[in-house]
Amino acid sequence: MKVHYTSLGFVNTKPMFAAAMRSGFAVPAYNFNNMEQLQAIVMACLETQSPVILQVSKGARDYADRTLLSHMGRGAVEMMKRKAGEKGVGEIPIALHLDHGDSFELCVSCIETGFSSVMIDGSHLPYTENAALTRKVVDFARLHDVSVEGELGVLAGVEDEVAAAGHTYTRPEEVEDFVRRAGVDSLAISIGTSHGAFKFKPGQKPEIRLDILREIEKRIPGFPIVLHGSSSVPGDAVVAINRYGGRLKDSIGIPETQLREAARSAVCKINIDSDGRLVMTAKIREIFTLKPEEFDPRKYLGPARDALCAMYIEKNKNVLGSAGQAPEIK
Ligand code: G3H
Ligand code: 13P
Ligand code: ZN
Repeated sequence: MKVHYTSLGFVNTKPMFAAAMRSGFAVPAYNFNNMEQLQAIVMACLETQSPVILQVSKGARDYADRTLLSHMGRGAVEMMKRKAGEKGVGEIPIALHLDHGDSFELCVSCIETGFSSVMIDGSHLPYTENAALTRKVVDFARLHDVSVEGELGVLAGVEDEVAAAGHTYTRPEEVEDFVRRAGVDSLAISIGTSHGAFKFKPGQKPEIRLDILREIEKRIPGFPIVLHGSSSVPGDAVVAINRYGGRLKDSIGIPETQLREAARSAVCKINIDSDGRLVMTAKIREIFTLKPEEFDPRKYLGPARDALCAMYIEKNKNVLGSAGQAPEIK
C-alpha cells in the first residue's frame, strides 16, 4: 500500500538541518530493528525534547519486515504524541530515514511506503556514476518532497581488520561539484569514522580529520554534512560484555569530544547504531549471568531498553547538543 510520510506524522529532514546549522547541534540518527530500540529512541528524544531521525537499514527492513517497520514508525509517532500530552510537554519532530540505500528501486520503495528521507549510498561507485545514481533518486524524491542524503568518500570497513588504513577520505575539491550535480539535501563524508565497534587499532590515536571537515565547509558553506560510523564504543559496556561472558577485543570508538566539535560545525546529522547494540548486549548478558533463572523476555529486554534510553539521553545532551532543540524546528 502506497502512503505519503505526512499522513504517518513524519517530517522531512530539511527544517531539522536548518535549525541544526543555525544553532550548532547535530540531529541524532539512531538505527532501529525492533520494538525496544524504537521505544528507547523515541522516549529519550521526547524526554530531552530533541528532534530525531529514525534510521532503517536494508538489513533492518529485511529483519523486521518492511510493512511492520513502517507501521512501527507510524506507531512511534502516535505514541510520542500521546505521551507528550500525558506529560504536558511539546511534541517532537520525527523523520523516518532509509540508511545506506543501495539502489534506486529500494529508495523508491521506501519513499512510497512512508519514509520522509532516504540515503542513496553510491560511495563505492566511480564519481560520475555516484553523482548520476544520486541525481536519479533526487529527481524521484523531489516529486514527494522527500529529502535525500548522498555520500562522497568511502568509510573503512569493519571486517577488514585494518579499519583506519581502509578509508578513502572525501576530497574537499569534489564536494561542490557533487552537491550541484546530484542535487542532494545533505552529504555524508569520510573523515576517519567507520562502522562498528573496532574503529581504530590498539596504539593508534582515535582521531577524526576535523581539518578535512573544515576544508569541506569552506567549499560548501551552510550545507548540511552527515557523519556515519559515529559510535563512541562506551568502555563500561565493553567491560560488562566481557565480564559476563562476551569476547570483544580492542573495541575503540570516536571520542565524544570530537563529535561534539563536529556537531557545532556544519555536521547536522550524526549516525549511531553500534553503541546501542553494545549497551543492549551488556545489559542482557548481565541479566543472563546474574539471574540464570529468568526466562521472561520482558525481564531482560525491558532493562536493556531502559539502559538504551539512558544512553540516548546522554548523547542528546552531551554529544549532539540536540536536547531542547525540538521547539526550534519550524
Ligand atoms: O551503517 C550501518 C548500520 O549500523 C546498519 O547496520 O546493516 O547491520 O543493519 P545493518
Ligand atoms: P556506528 O556503527 O558507528 O554506530 O555507525 C552507524 C551508522 O553509520 C549507521 O549508518
Ligand atoms: Zn552508516
